[in-house]
Amino acid sequence: MRTIIEPFRIKSVEPIRMTTPAQRAKFLADAHFNPFLLHADSVLIDLLTDSGASAMSSEQWAGIMRGDESYAGSQSYWRLKQTLLEMTGFENILPTHQGRASERILFDLVGGPTKVVPNNAHFDTTRANIEHSGAKAINLPIPEAAVPSNRHPFKGNMDVEALDRLITQVGRENVPLVMVTVTNNTSGGQPVSLANMRAVRKVCDKHGLPLYLDACRFAENAWFIKQREPECASMSVRQIVRAMFDLADGASISAKKDGLVNIGGLLMIKDPALFQRACNLLILTEGFVTYGGLAGRDLEAMAQGYKEVLEEDYLSYRIRSVEYLGEKLLASGIKIIEPPGGHAIYIDAGHFCPHIPKAQFPGQSVVCGLYRIAGIRSCEIGSVMAGPNPTNPPTMELVRLALPRRAYTQSHFDYVAEACAELFAKRSELRGLRIVEAPDVLRHFTAKFAEL
Ligand code: F0G
Repeated sequence: MRTIIEPFRIKSVEPIRMTTPAQRAKFLADAHFNPFLLHADSVLIDLLTDSGASAMSSEQWAGIMRGDESYAGSQSYWRLKQTLLEMTGFENILPTHQGRASERILFDLVGGPTKVVPNNAHFDTTRANIEHSGAKAINLPIPEAAVPSNRHPFKGNMDVEALDRLITQVGRENVPLVMVTVTNNTSGGQPVSLANMRAVRKVCDKHGLPLYLDACRFAENAWFIKQREPECASMSVRQIVRAMFDLADGASISAKKDGLVNIGGLLMIKDPALFQRACNLLILTEGFVTYGGLAGRDLEAMAQGYKEVLEEDYLSYRIRSVEYLGEKLLASGIKIIEPPGGHAIYIDAGHFCPHIPKAQFPGQSVVCGLYRIAGIRSCEIGSVMAGPNPTNPPTMELVRLALPRRAYTQSHFDYVAEACAELFAKRSELRGLRIVEAPDVLRHFTAKFAEL
């Protein structure tokens, strides 16, 4: 059979609310044209993020009941530790409440003024935590990543020569670690090849530096490797995942993505002395080392999620769903970052509404348009998110449609594609926006807009 189906059936359903265009126009105006300020029950299809929005399986819900809530040494912790040991080979793991808590601990320990942390592309919270420590966060993507229509199979790769040059230039003593984000969220959920990770490892070895993964979406990355890297075609996803982690000295992970859970994170560190210092910091703000700010039941759900995410039927359906939506948008004439990534489709809003200048936020205008036309919530990644005086001004005005895992079916994606096509046909009616009120940092979450 050629049709790829959702490899699950549905045991529990959560109704979503149909609304009229008039109702949505009012909800949007009440939310000051910022969908982050909408009440979630007025959203029909929520593509704001893929983070923490997964549907859990019956086995995960069973695990929720089984969760051991002992303060120290919970059985749920030991089950999680064993699962991660088998999957990654890492002995030293710490649970945290989410990815940014792991980042905060890691960069409290290794960051600081004069330090420089290279990455293929830092996610915002990673960058923010590095900068908060006084260090500099540098993105080193390959040049192909800047060209939306370039269908490089591993557009998330790091520019290895640029990495080598940077380390030589700033001095290895100023680089506490090299980070690789898999998949590369900032460049469109694009994968990193195993060959590229090996080449990065080589540069790290040359300079005697540790390599860390930002491994939120490692399973999706491994699936792309299996499909696109000929030497890995006969490996299982589990083997590829292990090969990826074998190259690393540590990892910071948000389990809200490939952990298939609604909350949770991990920090993994091979170096025993550094790990010990991380344990001490964890206890200071997150909790004891065997729960790290989570309930025992959360650890249990995470352990099960990390087993399920490696199932190849699941990954095949997952990556195909994103690609399916991407193909439909391209067929309607909408420009997106190509090829479609692992967790999201990124619409080129500059192409969508060329009549709206950057200063009037074309991405936000498309976000508002999609909500108004069909109740779909998406997220601007452009001049609004970058803030008023960005250190890295955005080269593109994008709208991200992030796909929560296992939550929506193919007919939902047909609906999303139809809504996008309909809005694109009426794009000349979209209006620019101006900011009425906004905080100095992370303004996209709470900014208030008015339509021009
Ligand atoms: N690293 C990457 C690559 C991420 O995509 C995220 C979160 C984090 C770290 C931080 O993890 O949210 O658990 O603290 N990304 C979400 C998103 C929020 O919508 O892309 P967290």
